[in-house]
Amino acid sequence: MPQSEITTLEQFIVDQQALHAQADGSLSRVFRAIELAAKIVNRDVRKAGLIDILGQDGSVNTHGEDQQKLDVLANNIFISALSRTGEVSMIISEENEGVVYVEGCDHEKYIVAIDPLDGSSNIDVNVSIGSIFSIYKRQNAEQSPNLQECLQTGNEQVAAGYVFYGSSTMLVYTTGQGVNGFTLDDALQEFCLSHPNIQTPSNGKIFSVNEGNYNDFSEGVKSYIDYCKSNEAGPYKARYIGSMIADFHLNLLKGGVFVDPGTTGSPSGKLRLMYECNPMAFLAEQAGGKATYGEGSIMELQPKELHQRCPLFIGSANMVDLAMHYISEEDTAIINR
Ligand code: AHG
Ligand code: MN
Ligand code: MN
Repeated sequence: MPQSEITTLEQFIVDQQALHAQADGSLSRVFRAIELAAKIVNRDVRKAGLIDILGQDGSVNTHGEDQQKLDVLANNIFISALSRTGEVSMIISEENEGVVYVEGCDHEKYIVAIDPLDGSSNIDVNVSIGSIFSIYKRQNAEQSPNLQECLQTGNEQVAAGYVFYGSSTMLVYTTGQGVNGFTLDDALQEFCLSHPNIQTPSNGKIFSVNEGNYNDFSEGVKSYIDYCKSNEAGPYKARYIGSMIADFHLNLLKGGVFVDPGTTGSPSGKLRLMYECNPMAFLAEQAGGKATYGEGSIMELQPKELHQRCPLFIGSANMVDLAMHYISEEDTAIINR
C-alpha cells in the first residue's frame, strides 16, 4: 500500500468526528491522550529488561497484589496524559483505591476507567501485555465530581478499547459503531488502520481458561470445559496466556471463548467489572460476539463498587451460548453468593 493511502488513527478519529454533526472534538482529545500514553508505555515496555524498570516496586495495589514497576509507570503515564486533556473530571484505575479527581476539571464531560497494565505477571518473562480503557460521559457535569457518578453500567460506555503490546503493538477500539484495529508503525510512530471493522467468527475452536482452577469450578463450568476437550468436532485448542488482552485478541480474530469463572475461593472470579469485563464486553458485542457473567449481559450489571470483580464468559456468540447451556442452576447460585 502506498504510504499516502495509510489511514492513521489521528486521521480516522478526525474522519469519525466529521460524521457526527454534534461532535465537539472533546472525545477526540481524550483519544489523542490515550494514543500518546500508549506510545509512551509501548516505548517503556520495549525497553523492559534494558533499564531498571522490571520487577516489583515494593508496593501493593488495592487488591493486595504486588505492583510491578511497569504497572506504576503505566498508571502514571495514562493518568498524566488524561489529566492534561481538559476534558476528563475523574479517572478510575485498577491501581488506585479511590477516584482520581483531576485538578481544575470539576465540570468536564468525561470519566475514564483504566487497567494501565493488564497481564503484569507476564512483564518479567517477555510475554504479551496490554492496557485497557473505557470512557463514560458524566451524567451531570454541573455537580461536583463524585464516586457515585463513576458507577455506571457497561451499557453507558461511550468508547472502550485496548492497547496490545504483542509481537507488534496494536490499538483496538470501539465507539459503538464497530471495532477497528490499528497497528503501530515503529518507524512512523503512528497507529495505522490495519484491521478495519473487525467481526469475530460466530464459532471457533479455541478455549481459554486457567484450567489449574478446574477443581474449584462449578459443575456446569467443569462440564463445559470437558465438552471443549471432547466433542464431535474434536478437541478445541487450549490457549491461555495469562494476559486477558492477549487471550481475548487471539479469540477475537480467530474465533474462541475466554472464560474466567467464579471459583469456590473467589465466587466472583478474578477480573474487575469496570476495568476489564465491561470494556472487553463492549468490544466483543460490537464485533458480533457475546459477553456474560453466567446469567445475563456483563454490560447490564450495576457496579456497586469501583473494584468489583465479575465472572466472565466472552467471545464467539455460539460458543458463549453453548457455555451458558452448561451453566447449571448450581452455578448461578455460586455466582450470586
Ligand atoms: P492484571 O495484570 O491487570 O492484574 O490482570 C491479570 C489478569 C488477566 O489479564 C488474566 O486473564 C488473569 O489475570 C490471569 O490470572 P490467573 O493467572 O490467575 O489465571
Ligand atoms: Mn488486568
Ligand atoms: Mn492491571
